[in-house]
Amino acid sequence: MTLLTYLRRKLGLTGTKLGCAEGGCGACTLQSCPLTPSSHYAVNACLAPLCSLHLVAVTTVEGIGSVARKLHPVQERIAKAHGSQCGFCTPGIVMSMYALLRNNPTPKMADMEEAFQGNLCRCTGYRPILEGYKTFTVVRQIYKHTVKTHSCQNTHSHCIFFFLQDGGCCGGRGRENGCCMTNGSGEATALFSTTDFAPFDPTQEVIFPPELMRSRSLCFRGDRATWLQPDTLEEILRLKWKHPDARVVVGNTEVGIEVKFKNMVYPVILAPSFIPELNSVTHTEDGVVFGAACTLSHMGAVLRQAVETLPPHQTEVFLAVLEQLRWFAGQQIRNVAVSRTNWVSSVEQGINRVTGLNPCLILVDGSRVVQMDDSFFTGYRRTVLRPQEILVSIEIPYSQKVETFVSAFKQSPRREDDISIVTAAMSVTFTPGSNVVEDLRLSYGGMAATTVLAKRTANRLRGRCWGEELLQEACSTLAEEMTLDPSVPGGMVTYRRTLTLSLFYKFYLTVLQKLTYSLQGVNVEEVKSDCVSATELYHPQTPSSVQIYQVQQTQDDVLGRPMMHLSAMKQATGEAVYCDDVPLYENELYLSLITSSKAHARIISVDTSAAERLPGVVCFVFADDILGSNATGPVVYDESVLADGQVTCVGHIIGAVVADTQLHAQRAAKAVKIQYEELQPVVTIQEAIAAQSFYQPIRTIQKGDPEAGFKQADHVLEGEMHIGGQEHFYLETNATLAVPRGEDGEMELFVSTQSASKTQALGVPANRVVVRVKRMGGGFGGKESRTTVLSTVVAVAANKYRPVRCMLDRDEDMLITGGRHPFYGKYKVGFLNSGKVMALDVSYYSNAGNSMDLSLSVMERALFHMENSYNVANVRGQGFLCRTNLPSNTAFRGFGGPQGMMISESWITDVAQSLGKAAEEVRRLNLYMEGDSTPYNQILDQFTLDRCWDECLSRSEYQQRRAAIDLYNRQNRWTKRGLAIVPTKFGISFTAVFLNQAGALVHIYTDGSVLLTHGGTEMGQGLHTKMVQIASRVLGIPYSKIHISETSTNTVPNTSPTAASASSDLNGAAVQNACEILMKRLEPYKNKNPKGSWEDWVKSAYFDRVSLSANGFYKTPDLGYDFDSNSGRVFNYFSYGVACSEVEIDCLTGAHKNLSTTIVMDVGHSLNPAIDIGQVEGAFMQGLGLFTLEELHYSPRGVLLTRGPGSYKIPAFGDIPTTLTVSLLRDAPNDKAIFASKAVGEPPLFLASSVFFAIKDAISAARAESGIKGPFRLDSPASAERIRNACTDRFTKLCPPAEPGSFTPWSVQV
Ligand SMILES: Cc1cc2nc3c(=O)[nH]c(=O)nc-3n(C[C@H](O)[C@H](O)[C@H](O)COP(=O)(O)OP(=O)(O)OC[C@H]3O[C@@H](n4cnc5c(N)ncnc54)[C@H](O)[C@@H]3O)c2cc1C
Ligand code: FES
Ligand code: FES
Repeated sequence: MTLLTYLRRKLGLTGTKLGCAEGGCGACTLQSCPLTPSSHYAVNACLAPLCSLHLVAVTTVEGIGSVARKLHPVQERIAKAHGSQCGFCTPGIVMSMYALLRNNPTPKMADMEEAFQGNLCRCTGYRPILEGYKTFTVVRQIYKHTVKTHSCQNTHSHCIFFFLQDGGCCGGRGRENGCCMTNGSGEATALFSTTDFAPFDPTQEVIFPPELMRSRSLCFRGDRATWLQPDTLEEILRLKWKHPDARVVVGNTEVGIEVKFKNMVYPVILAPSFIPELNSVTHTEDGVVFGAACTLSHMGAVLRQAVETLPPHQTEVFLAVLEQLRWFAGQQIRNVAVSRTNWVSSVEQGINRVTGLNPCLILVDGSRVVQMDDSFFTGYRRTVLRPQEILVSIEIPYSQKVETFVSAFKQSPRREDDISIVTAAMSVTFTPGSNVVEDLRLSYGGMAATTVLAKRTANRLRGRCWGEELLQEACSTLAEEMTLDPSVPGGMVTYRRTLTLSLFYKFYLTVLQKLTYSLQGVNVEEVKSDCVSATELYHPQTPSSVQIYQVQQTQDDVLGRPMMHLSAMKQATGEAVYCDDVPLYENELYLSLITSSKAHARIISVDTSAAERLPGVVCFVFADDILGSNATGPVVYDESVLADGQVTCVGHIIGAVVADTQLHAQRAAKAVKIQYEELQPVVTIQEAIAAQSFYQPIRTIQKGDPEAGFKQADHVLEGEMHIGGQEHFYLETNATLAVPRGEDGEMELFVSTQSASKTQALGVPANRVVVRVKRMGGGFGGKESRTTVLSTVVAVAANKYRPVRCMLDRDEDMLITGGRHPFYGKYKVGFLNSGKVMALDVSYYSNAGNSMDLSLSVMERALFHMENSYNVANVRGQGFLCRTNLPSNTAFRGFGGPQGMMISESWITDVAQSLGKAAEEVRRLNLYMEGDSTPYNQILDQFTLDRCWDECLSRSEYQQRRAAIDLYNRQNRWTKRGLAIVPTKFGISFTAVFLNQAGALVHIYTDGSVLLTHGGTEMGQGLHTKMVQIASRVLGIPYSKIHISETSTNTVPNTSPTAASASSDLNGAAVQNACEILMKRLEPYKNKNPKGSWEDWVKSAYFDRVSLSANGFYKTPDLGYDFDSNSGRVFNYFSYGVACSEVEIDCLTGAHKNLSTTIVMDVGHSLNPAIDIGQVEGAFMQGLGLFTLEELHYSPRGVLLTRGPGSYKIPAFGDIPTTLTVSLLRDAPNDKAIFASKAVGEPPLFLASSVFFAIKDAISAARAESGIKGPFRLDSPASAERIRNACTDRFTKLCPPAEPGSFTPWSVQV
């Protein structure tokens, strides 16, 4: 059992969350003190075996503070700094910070960034978390927070402008017209006030319990495994002799994954963590010897100290190891994991192989020291270690000679906490006083099952001078030697091969630089100045940020103010209750799903006999158990709740097992045997096009005459682009608890859903089923329609028996629930010499998956955004929904809009590139103007995009930046910078007209307190907070008198999903309506007693028998579009925004840095600037993931290969742009929504495409170096692989791709 299960299920301590169960998200972080009072470690509870914690002091988030008692400063600051949205990641982040402060009360920013490498947040965009915690750092202590006050000279309204940089005012360092100091247009303060923060006093922390300092020799026996924890070396050797098959476990970060995800069973486990010899560190004449149980963080600390004290020539190896440790997993993993026998990672294997680390293996009857040479690794994760042996220590040697140089490289999809694609360790020794190679070792990981030495290349280069000739020889030989089968697991064959050359080139340059320095007087080639940046190691810079917004009312009105999310404090203390935190019912059962392993097949048989015999199993649920209809779907009922005879995707739910515990249910589900007759699957969009496998209808929007437009054009250009899908990766996976009420078929369902009403379907009258949603740990559209897939099965099971619960594991959630639709776009665009676009013909193909779900609406929105913000007179767009054998794709923030706009940004970039014009100029030329009409004939009024554009240009200092980038690119051959400014126009309304309605119910109690309920759900976006602000303004009472408990179908019925960014508009207006009704009823009592209090009026009305409860309702007026006639209003209004981003790419590896982003967003009059800025930044970061990082890999047979944070990378702390400016457009009231505000949830997401197009700009500069100009195809995401492959150069030419069709690839572009 893991510590996490024990805490949550046995102790009821639910503050520690389950996000992934594989150490990849940090939601389960807590602090452990395993050895001494002075060592505090952030660790992942999901991987920590309970047995390993006997006599270990563990501190959970509940242990450091609570709302009722007192918040710890780390809890308070993240809440007040707006660093908690859905809050599911918050306890983990709090505990990472807490552990850091326990070890170091005055950390530096770099310490903090390192501490968060193992934590993910999907909502906030990380900036506010860092901003809040910056207040603990040393930087903060020297930073003086300034609050500036200015009177407004520009407007007569009461304007307050807030500027925040490094937690405060920009202090006059801002830019033209941008700074509160220079434009004199408002009063400046911050989004939060640091003066409110409780001081941090490290002396007040809980002490290490002295009773835990005892001997640790232990034995635990369970049903399936025995845990032996010896505390002497003799004892462990004896035990290993007796149990040669026993698995040695230290951090459990490898074995834990094998047990959980690969169904491995280890009957005997040996835990050596408390054996002194295995924890010792000895400095010898030759190097440093680390005991085999020394954790990686301990090793890092020792090596760092050695580097500080020893002469540089001795520490080349240490530096190489340290550089790699920095990018090894997250802090939580490094705090427990050891450099085990197959040695830390392939990089370190490589370092070892080129430098000669010496592992010492020991047997009960003697020890041996082995060299990690070619014979050491015998296969993937296999070594020469014999069954009875254990590893005692590893020696990391000093580099011995001044003539030896060592480097190590790791290239992974994401820099932080990611497994490598290719690694390399290289060492060269020169004949003293010369540049003649005496010894050269080149070792690569990621090119075979174990690290491989490029022996042939090394042999050829020995005795040669380190110069251009050697380089050429090295590259051509490496290209021949480092080959890969085109079907190799992991794919990226061309990229991996190119990397072997590119990394060698980096090594070549690095050594050349050092040689020039150390061999003065000898004739050595110099590194050209434009190549120097290729040798620089990546060290992240501390990010800084500015937020600017405007407030337009008096201090006593909470609306428009940056009020903290109402649940933020509870989220930070772990007291906020999510679906799976609801306490266990006494007789509760757990459900686990049985899913298809085939993409398309007939089910021949289902055999449950083996599963039935397993402990704890209560029953199975299959299609026959469904009393009502098995057909389901959010619009079209074209899918089955449980598969009936046929499966149409991997992950298709066939049935479920109900058992007494989660573990038993999951084991039994895996034991169910299913026989299939496989059918041919359709997996990719291209396969669907070939097979004409489409759902109907095929939508078309046409305006003007495209053919005539093409004739008028000076140029006609065709292009195409593929945009990959995206996993929602809400930190809280789908969860449902169904509780039958025993009477009249009544049931209560606690569901993590955005669509409470949808969950009521399936034959049972809706009036018997109450769906309750307290809050969600993120939704992003993923819990709009797909939640019913799980909740219905759970409800069917509960209907049979008793309360049933299920929270999907991360891998199940990713497998089953679908994500953002992959899109393929084909376009033809006609334009004039000036860049003015005359005609566009575009076809969109989306990968809809195995059911319609919301795919038609998603495609419609893509079509409604096909011109993004550009006025094209003659335009035709067609949308095809590809029916494939993938899990049904669904709603995702932006809902097709981003894909639609991405294609348009691709053709506008092509137009600019083909004309050799600046992309910014062509974009501006085609930008809409006030009064223009869209392809669906909607007139643009209250148009603010041009203002956003101009403000963004000036705030980002676009022209100066452009000039600086051009200069940089001329001066650097192997790193290039790029810049792009991109607009967005996002239509607000559900495109299905009937959904544009909302209800609210407001009760005033006789004590004056108000209970507010509305149809929207809270998933971190701050909807409840905004609703309370609205009610507070209309009722004229402090927000503290108003409470929202939950969303439930028995208070507000027939709710629309909380989606389409419209929830504040719709529900806010319904709340306003209800409150106004109540205020009307209270008016006579106010008039009668004008000096009375709210409570007085309420009481008087009550005694006068006036109802103090009211329903509110709202529907958006004047909507209704008709595709056939291309007429009628689609959207209520548009949200506008513009972003400008600058990036730097490493042309040799494809890695990139997000240097700067400036966003100007029109949110009307913001209801809550802190929440709105949070939405802008969170959406931007999610878009950044979509367009630059996140890649779902599917096998050609439709199997999802990326099923957790280990293989699917969402942006981490280190991916935030180094400088980030967010400005909410001032003086932009919107008369179409509540209190002049605008929707904000989805519109900013597309602005992250500015990063993609900045990358494309940088690639263009790299291609120009090889003489290649003009448009080129770059698919999304702009991953390291795509960037590298697009930067065509001498190295890529040596590694041509295999002929398509001549092999079966590991993964396909779906
Ligand atoms: C989120 C996450 C990120 C990761 N990132 C990386 C990464 O970036 N790079 C990378 O290389 N790996 C990574 N890993 C894999 C893993 O953390 C490492 O392999 C780590 O070194 C395992 O150490 P451990 O103590 O936790 O291993 P355990 O699971 O405790 O055991 C590891 C193995 O070593 C053996 N072993 C341990 N001690 C001895 C001994 N004294 N004698 C003999 N055998 C012994 C065990 O039997 C077992 O086979 C990651 C894992 C996770 C969960
Ligand atoms: S749940 Fe433990 S790291 Fe994700
Ligand atoms: S607030 Fe971090 S995941 Fe939601």
